[in-house]
Amino acid sequence: MTAKKPSVWVVYNHTGEDEYEKLKDIDPKTLDFNPVYKIDVATVSEEYDAVRKGLEEAGFRSKLLNAEDNFTKLHGAFSRTRPDVIFNLVEYFHDDPQLEAPVAGYFDLIGIPYTGAPPGALSLCQKKGFTKQILAGHGIPTPHFRMLNHPKIPKRHGLKYPLIVKPAREDASTGVTRHSVVYDHPSLITQLEKVFAEFAPPILVEEFIEGRELHISILGNDPPRVLPAIEFDFSELPDDHPKLISYEMKWSPLDQSYHQVHTVCPAEISRKEIRKIEEAVVPAYTVTGCRDYARIDMRMNKKGDVFILEVNPNPDLTEGVSFMESAEEAGLSFPDTLRTIVEGAMARKRPGSPIVDPGPSPAGVPGVPSGKTGQPTT
Ligand SMILES: Nc1ncnc2c1ncn2[C@@H]1O[C@H](COP(=O)(O)OP(=O)(O)OP(=O)(O)O)[C@@H](O)[C@H]1O
Ligand SMILES: [Mg+2]
Repeated sequence: MTAKKPSVWVVYNHTGEDEYEKLKDIDPKTLDFNPVYKIDVATVSEEYDAVRKGLEEAGFRSKLLNAEDNFTKLHGAFSRTRPDVIFNLVEYFHDDPQLEAPVAGYFDLIGIPYTGAPPGALSLCQKKGFTKQILAGHGIPTPHFRMLNHPKIPKRHGLKYPLIVKPAREDASTGVTRHSVVYDHPSLITQLEKVFAEFAPPILVEEFIEGRELHISILGNDPPRVLPAIEFDFSELPDDHPKLISYEMKWSPLDQSYHQVHTVCPAEISRKEIRKIEEAVVPAYTVTGCRDYARIDMRMNKKGDVFILEVNPNPDLTEGVSFMESAEEAGLSFPDTLRTIVEGAMARKRPGSPIVDPGPSPAGVPGVPSGKTGQPTT
């Protein structure tokens, strides 16, 4: 008799409209520039389904569970059936990214191993300033910075221009625009006022590292494996655009800048540089408490010094881009990489892990299926 395949539930949280759905109706010929890349990128649900399919190909039984901002539904699903592993793709709850960590904490409480970082690492890495303090405290290089709670900073702040002004608690480059880089005190104050008007404090003012941008993906534990680096090629950007990755460049296929920045993988870097990068990223992964997979964004200046900009636990897993582009370059197929991530979670399975107390029946609660099977909805 063959052993039953382990079951892995891909758990995510999504409600409301899928912005990317609208892109399917746009004719690229109607844009006022020539798009280089596909406009109709995968929708949110297509992305999650790709992970589910990849897991099936990797040899698991897999299904999707959308929490739909409904904790009773989520808990109800786990009370009826327990998968062997949760593939945790929940990034926010009730639109609040700060609830990403408590969701992982809930998985700890019900005792089902889940992929990716634990609550402490998820919470820490959302706070860029604290993360940088921890990195610096461990001797891991990160650009010099000040964390501000109001839009005032003395002229002699001790930082070297150019500087970048960015919210300390956003991600996906939110709040990073072509105007984020400033070259003197008056423009620093103007930019601080603008950013404080739009985003909650604290705000980071950080030395802008001119040079190469490298994104380093790390896979696994004991020991973590550093995957081939991705470099961003900014050479097609207009001269007046600072060489950085803005929100639009990353997420807006209808914006021309999305089509002007390209990735090169593997980045052309010497062995000595690779060693320097590894000496920074592996400790950064470990001290921030990342697990299974993460992406570390960094810069390298002309002298070859490296600086960590931020640590991204549970990064985007879209096939062929970012983390998965590096994994493919390392010879790992999409299913291979997903399998390695799941195996990381399985290794944490504790014998006699707590039994879920189903609590009161969720029947009758709006949005909770009351059927016998307890199959999650997608
Ligand atoms: N100190 C810096 N020096 C040079 N470039 C920087 C610096 N800080 C930020 N950038 C640029 O801004 C981009 C976004 O910054 P950062 O990675 O900190 O933000 P983010 O919002 O968390 O982005 P994401 O999570 O999508 O990677 C970086 O990829 C880089 O291009
Ligand atoms: Mg980043």
